[in-house]
Amino acid sequence: MIDIHCHILPAIDDGAETPQESLDMCQIAADDGIKVIVATPHFTPGRFEPSSTTVFSLIDALQKQVDEAGLDLRILSGADLAVSPEYLQHIESHEHITINRSSKYVLAELPHAGAPIGWEDFLFKVIDGGITPILTHPERNPSFMKDPLSLRKFVDYGGLVQVTAMSVTGDFGSDIQLAVATLLKEGLVHVIATDAHSTEKRIPVLSEAVDMASDIVGKDVANAFVTTVPQAIIDGSAIIPLYDHLSQSHEVRRT
Ligand SMILES: [Fe+2]
Repeated sequence: MIDIHCHILPAIDDGAETPQESLDMCQIAADDGIKVIVATPHFTPGRFEPSSTTVFSLIDALQKQVDEAGLDLRILSGADLAVSPEYLQHIESHEHITINRSSKYVLAELPHAGAPIGWEDFLFKVIDGGITPILTHPERNPSFMKDPLSLRKFVDYGGLVQVTAMSVTGDFGSDIQLAVATLLKEGLVHVIATDAHSTEKRIPVLSEAVDMASDIVGKDVANAFVTTVPQAIIDGSAIIPLYDHLSQSHEVRRT
């Protein structure tokens, strides 16, 4: 499995606090069957603005620890990039921000309080420019919790949606779990990621969420959320439409 959203680097944001915690998170991920982690520290103007040099050197150091510990795990670069008027400017000026330096895919985090007016048009321009934004955990955003189907326009335009494993499993509460279930049933999810921050409360585990998502979208699609789709993202290649495949080989349970 591949995790494209993880705050695994030490002391760079509100994720892992020490190199030891980063390594312990890697151990948890490896034990769960995760083989690749995209390290995505926050890039939030005015709060977290790490340089690419810092991110790359922390990744090198963590990869060394991982290798020395004998874990079968690769750490790649990325960022949890807040949507702001300078979004594109940040992508252009920081080499680490697009996933695996592909210049093709980038995480897009909307303000936690709700989606600002005009967010869609803003991200459509990013898509028109050749970079695909991956909207992070909309199920935890009050705007989309209220109206999950309002994401359809963004998805139809070519945007991708990442939901968080702990939302699928119900660890963030039943309202969020319900919103995820709706998104899954309606074919508005492309990736499940951990968005892990620690070894305690928000841990890097995907398998349980995949099992639970399987009950809604079937095993093949649920597995694709953590294998073929994130693989295409780190390769910078096109995503094979998940739900076309789904409608041919499985029936979505629209209950
Ligand atoms: Fe995040």
